[in-house]
Amino acid sequence: MPEQVTLIVDGREVPAQKGEKLIAAAERGGTYIPRFCYHPRMRSVGMCRMCLVEVKGPRGYSLQPACYMDVAPGMEIITSSTKVRKAQDGVLEMLLVNHPLDCPVCDKGGECPLQDQTLTFGPGESRFVEEKRHWDKPIPISTLVYLDRERCIQCDRCTRFASEVAGEPLINFAGRGDQVEVGIFPGQPFKSYFSGNTVQICPVGALTATPYRFKARPWDLEQVESTCTSCSVGCRVAVQSSSNHVIRYLGVDSDPVNQSWLCDKGRFDFEAISSPRRLTQPLVKRGDDEIEASWAEALAAAARGIGEVAKLHGPNAVAVIGGARLANEDAYAWAKLAKGIIGTDSTDARLGDGLLAEAVLGLPRATIQEACNARAVLTLAPDLSEELPILHLRLRCAVVEAGLPIVELTPARSGISLLARITLTYRPGEALDLVRQLLGKDGVRSAGPSAPSTPGGAGAQAAALAQARELLGIGEASPGDGVVVILGRPSLAETASSVLAGVAGLVEALPGAKWLPAGRRANINGALDMGLAPGMLPGRVTLEGGRARYTRAWGRVPEHRGSGTTGSLARAAGGEPIALILLGADPISDFPDKRLARMALDRAAFVCSVDCLPNASNARADVVLPAAMYAERAGTTTNLEGRITRLAQKVVPPGNCLPDWMIASELATALGADLGLDSLDAIWDEIAALAPSHVGITRAALAAPGARDGLIAPLPTTPVTLGGRPPGHPPGLPALDPMATPGLSSAEMLADPDVEGAPESWTAAGPGPAAQVVGGHGGDPSIGAISPPSLVSFAGAIRAPEVPRPDAYGLRLVVGRSLFDQGTLLGACPSLAPLSATPRLRVNPYDLDRLGKATGDRVRAHTARAATVVEVIADAGVVRGTAVLGFNLAGGGAGDLIDVTAAVTDIRLEST
Ligand code: SF4
Ligand code: SF4
Ligand code: FES
Repeated sequence: MPEQVTLIVDGREVPAQKGEKLIAAAERGGTYIPRFCYHPRMRSVGMCRMCLVEVKGPRGYSLQPACYMDVAPGMEIITSSTKVRKAQDGVLEMLLVNHPLDCPVCDKGGECPLQDQTLTFGPGESRFVEEKRHWDKPIPISTLVYLDRERCIQCDRCTRFASEVAGEPLINFAGRGDQVEVGIFPGQPFKSYFSGNTVQICPVGALTATPYRFKARPWDLEQVESTCTSCSVGCRVAVQSSSNHVIRYLGVDSDPVNQSWLCDKGRFDFEAISSPRRLTQPLVKRGDDEIEASWAEALAAAARGIGEVAKLHGPNAVAVIGGARLANEDAYAWAKLAKGIIGTDSTDARLGDGLLAEAVLGLPRATIQEACNARAVLTLAPDLSEELPILHLRLRCAVVEAGLPIVELTPARSGISLLARITLTYRPGEALDLVRQLLGKDGVRSAGPSAPSTPGGAGAQAAALAQARELLGIGEASPGDGVVVILGRPSLAETASSVLAGVAGLVEALPGAKWLPAGRRANINGALDMGLAPGMLPGRVTLEGGRARYTRAWGRVPEHRGSGTTGSLARAAGGEPIALILLGADPISDFPDKRLARMALDRAAFVCSVDCLPNASNARADVVLPAAMYAERAGTTTNLEGRITRLAQKVVPPGNCLPDWMIASELATALGADLGLDSLDAIWDEIAALAPSHVGITRAALAAPGARDGLIAPLPTTPVTLGGRPPGHPPGLPALDPMATPGLSSAEMLADPDVEGAPESWTAAGPGPAAQVVGGHGGDPSIGAISPPSLVSFAGAIRAPEVPRPDAYGLRLVVGRSLFDQGTLLGACPSLAPLSATPRLRVNPYDLDRLGKATGDRVRAHTARAATVVEVIADAGVVRGTAVLGFNLAGGGAGDLIDVTAAVTDIRLEST
């Protein structure tokens, strides 16, 4: 616990923590000191002098910058004396000497701290009559950001963010005296995944975002607080709308999660909500055309198609693919429809790029904060900088500020390699071999002609392995204690079982470790929690473990374990009569093996798509049901920590779109059944009552003030006190930096009608005493007599698949995703769609030379069944014998090359 001190602010005693800045302590004590350059999430620089206050010293009071001074016991400060007012007045007069009179046409007008503070603390008029400084304005410094140098007040916020927080010092100051200007370096655009944060924290309109320019004024905006669902980090956001259009997201400071930052995908993909391409009306296929239909016609057609297949070929002939786009309540409704009414266990939200649900759900879960405070972090995961950007940012800060050691196991150097203390590479298919080397075990399989290596050869590799062992506590009495392992699929061209074999080895060797799943899809963790995976039922219980409970509650559960996405698509592609239900899923673009996805959708007996936007997959659907999108429906979502937060509805869905849970309910009715779920509240009550992992996470608990950062499932077994932060979370920095989040205050956010009073404390007991089940099929009171099943746990040994030895002419393919890809969502965002990179094949220079190719050559990369033409570049970071290619990028990518039925994919290069 930091030492507590007391200071005197304007004659009042204010408690503070040792090391805290005066400006922060005074604000918490209720005294706001004006500021421009200070930001609670960055180092103080004392640049602007707007925060001058009188501080008592040995020789009496003197003016000091409150953002630059640490508190001290008994410190006495005055924030509003004549001397202070005069200083503030002078600072503002100086800032306005060159500031243009752009307020009527500036995006910041109405939410501008310079305007506000000039009115509150500034001079009534200026004494300067000289011509102001002029520069060209505005100039684009990236596709997303415009810079107006005349408006810049040189607060150093954007430049500090870029260098300190993002680690990309692409924007800085140049010039001297009154010619100082902020700008980028010649020929280097402000190309950063985090550029939007600089726009949000710029206290004036010097930096503006292209997707928001001239769209609205603050007084036009309404705002709700919600959670970003563009990946599974779950950053808190303020969703702002005007005239029923979402037009801006701003980062909200959630201390344990995003600490006010957003990535550019999460910040700007609101454009998809208002896309003119939105699906707004049900569609039914007639001949080769999809024609608009009424809900009644479309639901009848969907029920007919699904019902016939189930009747003729059994319930498992119906497969539900997707669900990670959905809120928890939607996912539960669909799981209940699929498993409780249709009777199929073939449901899968992972879309072929996840790990076994039992592993994701069954390992002790870490929080992001625990990862940042860990003794060491071990990653066996995709490139976090591309797939989970704010998790990457948090880890980067922990590395830079606290020296967090990261050990990375990867088939290709990634964004994490720049941060990692040790990067150990392996060739696709050989993750287990590397894990065994790391653990110092015998029986390492031969690594073949191009063994995994660190630069420097075998000696360096041995030293790196030894250092990694020490960092992870291998060989100590409790190996893995304090270690957090981030796990996911490092490459889409390597089977999940190969990676899982490595994970199983780590589970055995690091019993003290905690785990953070790195599945990237929005609510993948919530969807898995709700049972949208084969072999699982809601609440992190297995089909067998939860059979009695859910049979009693729902009336039925599937008899046998079903197939996952790969299995279901393979069954359909192989000619089995399958009805596919695509829940916000576009396998043709998003599943690693595009050929299999295409064949499956062409050959499926029936395809029903529930989606918000048209895509390659639902173009082949027999029925398309239009769903409400983010910000058009409420509910809850679950991030990679298991943190459940609330989603807020801000706008009305267009046309005839319905929330996904309602579509499930209507489809159940069309199938002649009753889902027993008639509202979001009813669904959550049923989840909280039935799902063992969600015991105690009631609506009231989620709405309590102490749950603003969400609640992590399962709740701890020790009492949790509401009204403060959840346990383990440090006493907060201010949740909202008023300078960082302009617009409406959180108090002005639209009140959620669901917010109810909450108990002051409760004791949650994980899978404790059975709770009363309410509503629908969950209404059987005798459920209380069935003790809740145990939560799934993962300890299994997984056999690694046989991997063929690479031949001298082939290269083993490594495939990763990019933040800006050609996915359905980004395709509907005019500002983001052009940012998708052109695919390039990266090859080690040794191999490139060996194969007679050079950087810039266009080559035909082919497997036994497909080929793609791509430019090749030499990259010394690529492991010898492998080649790295992006997935789902503009102009093609790896999707046609990957064969998901093979352990690995080898390619050969030919001249075009
Ligand atoms: Fe500050 Fe904005 Fe100028 Fe950057 S551009 S230094 S954030 S005023
Ligand atoms: Fe949204 Fe993920 Fe980006 Fe956070 S990191 S803003 S959750 S897309
Ligand atoms: Fe303190 Fe700028 S000098 S806020």
